[in-house]
Amino acid sequence: MGQHGFVNWFLDDLAAKAAERERLGLTRRLVARQNEDLLDLAGNDYLGLTNRPEVIFGATSAARTYGGGAGASRLVTGTLPIHDQLEGALAGLLQADSALAFSTGYHANLGAVTALSDADTLIVSDAHVHASLIDAARLSRAQVAVARHNDTADVERILGSRTQPKAMILVESIYSVLGDAAPLVELDEIARRHSSILLIDEAHGLGVAGDHGQGLTASLGLSRAEYVITTVTLSKSLAAQGGAVLGHPAVREQLVNTARPFIYDTGLAPAAAGAALAAISALNRDPSMVARVRANAATLAEACGVEPPAGAVLSIPMPGPREALAAVAVCAEHGIRIGCFRPPSTPDGISRLRITAHAHHTPDEIARATKVLSEITR
Ligand SMILES: Cc1ncc(COP(=O)(O)O)c(C=O)c1O
Repeated sequence: MGQHGFVNWFLDDLAAKAAERERLGLTRRLVARQNEDLLDLAGNDYLGLTNRPEVIFGATSAARTYGGGAGASRLVTGTLPIHDQLEGALAGLLQADSALAFSTGYHANLGAVTALSDADTLIVSDAHVHASLIDAARLSRAQVAVARHNDTADVERILGSRTQPKAMILVESIYSVLGDAAPLVELDEIARRHSSILLIDEAHGLGVAGDHGQGLTASLGLSRAEYVITTVTLSKSLAAQGGAVLGHPAVREQLVNTARPFIYDTGLAPAAAGAALAAISALNRDPSMVARVRANAATLAEACGVEPPAGAVLSIPMPGPREALAAVAVCAEHGIRIGCFRPPSTPDGISRLRITAHAHHTPDEIARATKVLSEITR
């Protein structure tokens, strides 16, 4: 096949794949946000901090001080004082002994898993973990076993028959799609019994779990155990961009020296670090935000006829992808933005509405939302 023939084949192949997605109702489209008047029940800015003046000021003043970017990888010249400040503030908030910032939460998961496991490790991954942990496990060269979702007996069974000298359990504290919490106390016991690392992704727990938003791991007193590693994103409750790995200082040292997504990546942009730092200060000053987001989540859950969620994420199963899209459209007509997940983005193949609660929504806004939600979920 000449180059011309190859290009035709290549484009025909992509067109066939696109047509198949369209036929299944699974085409994804990028749509720039337009109508800022919509009440947002879809985003992950759980504490409503993205547009707060002090967070924007944190971003702009960091950019003014340090520039638009870090300019190099952290181990070259890209470590800035604001990275040290951010890592200190994160370790304080999550009650961990050290923190290391990454340029995204995705990188944090890739870095933590690959730097702490190898071909002598068995990774036991919950069936619902985020794509970044799945990719991390694939990259790690470890043997990977998938445990049924939130099934501690399955985790125990897999670890009980392991042949590898090392093990690592991968879970989320609060799951991003179903919004349910991991049984962390039991998992901690299992990790101890089986001499395993327990890696907990707090992407959806930080800012919404624990009495002051410290996340589920810290609120259960697990964050300082040497074998517990916590990862976070700065892009949800902390209203910025970036990620971090938290744990024992020896873990941080290992990551600085061996985590390729840290070493071969430009340091976190100053504006993102500044925004996240300001968000942490706002949360520390006003921890009542956490109770507000949880109360709004409980009210929205009642309207949808589901149990109150563990964090801010409500998951409503729908008959299929088209019904889910139709519900999103009805909400938009009423000035409300909700999200939906369709296969292949759902861990169980079921199309779901994804509705998120936020701390800053007023009682009037919540009342408007509950009226529409109870209609579309009836
Ligand atoms: C559970 C979970 N982990 C990790 C990530 C990745 O974080 P980031 O968007 O900062 O890359 C996300 C979301 O995006 C997430 O939901």
